[in-house]
Amino acid sequence: MVIGWRLGRVLINGWKWITVFGNSAAGDQSNANIGNADEAVVHGKLHLGITNLPWYHSHMPFDYDKLYSETPNALGKPTKIIVNFFDEHVPQNARILDVGCGQGRDALFLGRRGHHVIGVDQSPNGIRDLQAVAKKENLTVEGVVADVTSFTPTGSFDVVLIDRTLHMLTPDERRTVLSTLLDHVIEGGFLIIADETSNIPGFQAAISAHRQGWVIEFQKRGYLFVRRT
Ligand SMILES: C[S@@+](CC[C@H](N)C(=O)[O-])C[C@H]1O[C@@H](n2cnc3c(N)ncnc32)[C@H](O)[C@@H]1O
Repeated sequence: MVIGWRLGRVLINGWKWITVFGNSAAGDQSNANIGNADEAVVHGKLHLGITNLPWYHSHMPFDYDKLYSETPNALGKPTKIIVNFFDEHVPQNARILDVGCGQGRDALFLGRRGHHVIGVDQSPNGIRDLQAVAKKENLTVEGVVADVTSFTPTGSFDVVLIDRTLHMLTPDERRTVLSTLLDHVIEGGFLIIADETSNIPGFQAAISAHRQGWVIEFQKRGYLFVRRT
């Protein structure tokens, strides 16, 4: 089902029934199908597959731990929308929780900006890579191996970031995880989500149901950034 070859960087200009996607997204549609054509720059191996059919998800779960064991910096650079948002809205020395951080595509850039980051992922290889770079560069970035569906953070954060991870959970799990994480955002802090565009209304419903007040700070296909009032 998957054809792999190396082409370097490719800009996906949208997706149809047959989708070209990068190994960072293989099997879970994360990058190419997220609906952010302008941001869907993928790296390294490409795969050709029929990815937006329901059977694909139930039969082709993607092994990120294996990907990370084989590919350094597998997901490439952070997306501009996320970088710009942090640069424009998030004060210095913020405390950030990166949920499903992988090898630290976001966590490491945030650490380099001087923020204090905790990255959580179920992939031991991803967290190992994150920690190695953080140590080498002396960043205040901590890695935790955990399943986010049963993870309760300690303390509160200026920003909780969930970049292309929620789509890997069931709808029930997404609601539960969001409800838990929303409790750990400080007043005036942000929840930043990138995910499949079709999942965004479900996230909005979960946020609306939360006991605290939230306003949308930024919304675009595949992105939902909200601030706690
Ligand atoms: C598409 S990758 C995104 C990684 C990172 N956020 C980024 O944008 O580069 C999805 C990540 O979610 C992680 N993940 C999926 N389900 C998870 C779970 N239940 N608990 C913790 N991490 C999970 C995977 O291991 C993978 O690293």
